[in-house]
Amino acid sequence: MGTKLTVAVVGPKGLVGREILELLAQRQLPVGSIRLLGTHRTAGAEVEIAGRAGKIALLTPQSFDGVELAFFAAGPNVAGEHAPRAASAGAAVIDVSSRFRLDGEVPLVVPEVNVAKLDDWRERGIVACPSPTAVALAVVLAPLAVQAGLRRVVVSTYQGVASAGRRAVGALSRETVDLLGARGVRRRRRFARRIAFNCVPQVGALEPGGSTTHELLAVEELRRLLDLPGLSVSMTAVRVPVFFGSAFSVNVETESPLAAAAAAAILREAPGILLHDDAGGSYPTPAEVAGSDATHVGRIRDDASADPPGLALWIALDNVRKGAALTAVQIAEVLARDHL
Ligand SMILES: NC(=O)c1ccc[n+]([C@@H]2O[C@H](COP(=O)([O-])OP(=O)(O)OC[C@H]3O[C@@H](n4cnc5c(N)ncnc54)[C@H](OP(=O)(O)O)[C@@H]3O)[C@@H](O)[C@H]2O)c1
Repeated sequence: MGTKLTVAVVGPKGLVGREILELLAQRQLPVGSIRLLGTHRTAGAEVEIAGRAGKIALLTPQSFDGVELAFFAAGPNVAGEHAPRAASAGAAVIDVSSRFRLDGEVPLVVPEVNVAKLDDWRERGIVACPSPTAVALAVVLAPLAVQAGLRRVVVSTYQGVASAGRRAVGALSRETVDLLGARGVRRRRRFARRIAFNCVPQVGALEPGGSTTHELLAVEELRRLLDLPGLSVSMTAVRVPVFFGSAFSVNVETESPLAAAAAAAILREAPGILLHDDAGGSYPTPAEVAGSDATHVGRIRDDASADPPGLALWIALDNVRKGAALTAVQIAEVLARDHL
């Protein structure tokens, strides 16, 4: 790839779309022009890209003529309708929605974990990014799996509202103000229960059997990323009144013994991970990792309750950034370098 790419960003006013634009301005992807594609609500509006104003156009079936790389950050319905069109028009499509994550013909990729899967991108012309939950878990569990094998993983995740999009951030803010003003929550809820000053153990819809769509999908994505279709995983996802960032409490049972100190040594060297293990008891929190590119890990300790003993650890990451936008841009960088 010698020339600069013509790039499209679908959903440039959304949380992930805006973060992708910021990363395109900051990183080294060879971008020529950027086409911004939105809805009737935002078409005509301006977005700042690297200090310059760009105008949003209405997304139509013809929007991708001449586009070489298309980021889709507008949800599964838009991706289902327009991503195949963009691919047919010749664009390499990177979709951050759930639409293609379990599609066997579409590679599901986190560059730190399974970059070789990008060799298959031409089959449909589309690459899927996993959910932030699967990104965080795969980045941390992949190097442990290589060293010790994985037998069972138990996860509780604490998810900030940004993972539900721009309007969810506004909803937490309004609910908080309403409750602090002793007015009660006046507007329609965006979550299953009140989110301000609360914790809601439901991310996505409840399915028969009691798990949620998010839990079921994230487990399957994780198995796909690690190439461990039979991995035993139990997950509970909780929505918490945090704006940006998510956290994960993880218990891991490995095939061969792996002590906490050995796990820390592996993770210290692993790509994309920032380890918090100084003697002062440091650990990452969602608020502290907002805006960070890394997947942060702390509180690694032996879990003697498992038989044989396992590990317990804590992960935090910025769900909008590493959980979606950065992973998408890293995929684009590999495609641009090796495939386009
Ligand atoms: N937020 C996260 O942490 C995160 C992480 C991983 C993956 N994701 C996924 O990324 C996608 C976007 O999430 P988000 O958080 O950025 O959501 P968001 O803040 O609600 O933004 C969604 C964007 O999609 C656009 N859009 C919706 N329908 C459209 C249509 N028919 N044509 C063109 N644009 C359309 C919206 O345009 P308007 O501005 O014109 O309304 C908006 O800009 C979702 O699939 C989400 O599941 C999000």
